[in-house]
Amino acid sequence: MNSAESLSARIRELARERGATILAHNYTHAEVQDVADFVGDSLQLSVEAKRANAGVIVFCGVRFMAETAKILSPGSVVLHPVVHAGCPMADMAPEDAVARWKAAHPDHALVAYVNSTAACKAQVDVCCTSANAEKIVKAIPADKPIMFLPDRNLGANVMAATGRKMDLWPGFCPTHNRIEPEMAAAARAAHPDAKFVCHPECLPAVVAMADAALSTGGMLRYVRETDAREIIVGTETGILHRMRKEAPDKILHPLQPLPTCPNMKKISLEDILRALETMAPAVELPEDLMDRARAPIERMLEMSA
Ligand code: 13P
Ligand code: SF4
Repeated sequence: MNSAESLSARIRELARERGATILAHNYTHAEVQDVADFVGDSLQLSVEAKRANAGVIVFCGVRFMAETAKILSPGSVVLHPVVHAGCPMADMAPEDAVARWKAAHPDHALVAYVNSTAACKAQVDVCCTSANAEKIVKAIPADKPIMFLPDRNLGANVMAATGRKMDLWPGFCPTHNRIEPEMAAAARAAHPDAKFVCHPECLPAVVAMADAALSTGGMLRYVRETDAREIIVGTETGILHRMRKEAPDKILHPLQPLPTCPNMKKISLEDILRALETMAPAVELPEDLMDRARAPIERMLEMSA
């Protein structure tokens, strides 16, 4: 047994003793995904967290995801093994600036991408993830003006797909925003028979070149189900692990340079083991903040069911 295998075995044993469920996002390290009970996209992880009520959750992903798990499962102990694994895009929409934006547009519906802080979610009408953003926006009455935060790229891509005009907050994902149309063009030229699938956090110019722009869960399904043998993958590199496992017959072409989210890579097996041993660090949020942030997340889950 190598050291990763023995660490994983110890983690599984301790998780069993603690009655803990290990949840991991599709972008985390391969060995973290392999030790998890469930690996998924933001929406799938939220649904899974809600199911684990009054248990122990070890959340391997970035801060806003662990917060969402706690908000949806307030009776659970939610361990987030590396507290500083945050999402820079979520931090681009600070609570007070969002409050000012909202106050200046009292007639608007305010939609928050889940990649936002709990304090931001607490101020909005409804949340969305990349898996249901179009559905949520389409469900808002046509005569209601919409403001969307914090991702200007996802917002612009949803506008293009739905024909719905929205006011956009100027945030972005540094990892996906760095994917230039030239990178996609180079991959297309090198692999002319390949389909190109990307994440809707990419620039609209990149999404316009793609065969599909989908959540990480959607991209996995696309790779498994497409008739194409070769697929160019326009998102964070961590997803290739599951794609290779679940679609071993497909030839995958990541973009170059490899898009990497440093925050998604912060949690290691050692961190998970330590969290289970010490039952810390646990996500703690004020009850009233959780109550206010839960309403737009629950609304999203109802609207996307
Ligand atoms: P998904 O909801 O598609 O998994 O995306 C989360 C994310 O952070 C993408 O950068
Ligand atoms: Fe945030 Fe982008 Fe990392 Fe996703 S990939 S967690 S949006 S910084």
